[in-house]
Amino acid sequence: NNFAIVDQDSCIACGACNSEAPEIFDMDDNGIAGVIYEGDSNRGVTPIAEDLLEELQEAVENCPTNCIQLSATPFAS
Ligand code: F3S
Repeated sequence: NNFAIVDQDSCIACGACNSEAPEIFDMDDNGIAGVIYEGDSNRGVTPIAEDLLEELQEAVENCPTNCIQLSATPFAS
């Protein structure tokens, strides 16, 4: 599973994902997270590199609202 997207309606802007995986997640001006990896713009269409999957998993596990979704295939955008 190396495609990721944040369900931004469920994000409570805690910032854990950005702490765990700063290359994958960043927050907008309101603190709401999105996937910023290689210009993905939270579309979930950019495959995340193998060597980042461990921190991706950490981010998923540390998100208090479980709003980071993973998929083996690109999300529809
Ligand atoms: Fe939001 Fe979860 Fe990150 S609440 S800021 S997506 S850890």
